[in-house]
Amino acid sequence: MKKTPKTVFITGASSGIGLATAGYFHEQGWNVVATMRHPEKRHTPLHEIGLPEILHLDVTDETSIYEAVNQTTKKYQRVDVLVNNAGYAVYGPFETTSPDQIRREYDTNVFGLMAVSRAFLPIFRNQKGGTLINVASMGGRIGFPLYSIYNSTKWAIEGFSESLMYELKPLNIKVRLIEPGVVKTDFYDRSLDRADTSNLPDAYAGIIERGKKTLGNYPNQKGTDPEVIAREIFRAAIDTGWRLRYTVGQDAQLAQFFRRLIPEEMFFRVMEQITLYPLKK
Ligand SMILES: NC(=O)c1ccc[n+]([C@@H]2O[C@H](COP(=O)([O-])OP(=O)(O)OC[C@H]3O[C@@H](n4cnc5c(N)ncnc54)[C@H](OP(=O)(O)O)[C@@H]3O)[C@@H](O)[C@H]2O)c1
Repeated sequence: MKKTPKTVFITGASSGIGLATAGYFHEQGWNVVATMRHPEKRHTPLHEIGLPEILHLDVTDETSIYEAVNQTTKKYQRVDVLVNNAGYAVYGPFETTSPDQIRREYDTNVFGLMAVSRAFLPIFRNQKGGTLINVASMGGRIGFPLYSIYNSTKWAIEGFSESLMYELKPLNIKVRLIEPGVVKTDFYDRSLDRADTSNLPDAYAGIIERGKKTLGNYPNQKGTDPEVIAREIFRAAIDTGWRLRYTVGQDAQLAQFFRRLIPEEMFFRVMEQITLYPLKK
């Protein structure tokens, strides 16, 4: 008898990691529900591979979440995996980041992720299993200069997921964290929300200037390919054990390795050197 394909539901599938993940699960024969804020502008690759389910979902809009989830459960008897991928970064000094920018960042990266998770938990509970995959970041356990707001959202996701893991394990619901390093996507480009530096106090000029060469200025041809992250997400989806964290990309793996290996203050000095005072090539 032919096996029923499994189903994955992905947020933020219009570009980058979400798009690559939708494509990879589709290639593996899964039913893919790819959700995005603007399906009308959907990316050509998703058109080309002929995904049947491209739904509207803005993680900050509860109605859109419930409509997308309802449409999904009407069509598929079971949803095996939720990938909470939607997210973006605020970049710049905390002092010049507006309260609105901070609120929007938390509404998307933290409260949005929680709202989509909340919509899926009754489904996973009723079907007696499921996997909740949260895309965090290497900046979810490490802080980077000028990413205080973004990093704080990803640290929140890490703490949320690690704690949730215990209460969902008896329900046979697995929680996974994906921790990518720098990935070649729109993240450092159209998705980066920069703090206003027009009236920047002089005291910040030095760090902003140094950060320009590294942190806030990754052209999107640098870093790991999003397809590599997609494969790791797939691995997290099919793993049978209770592993929580999947650190992916050489930069992220090295950073985590040194974080564990060397004393914290030494680690901070190395990070400062790499991110703000890189050697000239
Ligand atoms: N790239 C990296 O270096 C990197 C590293 C670590 C972690 N990450 C994480 O990876 C995830 C995906 O980012 P990416 O690198 O693939 O960047 P990306 O190409 O900019 O993709 C971000 C996605 O999130 C979506 N999104 C933003 N706000 C949303 C909202 N309110 N509702 C629904 N979707 C929303 C965007 O939709 P629109 O097309 O509508 O804007 C887009 O689909 C993020 O959580 C990010 O924090 C990225």
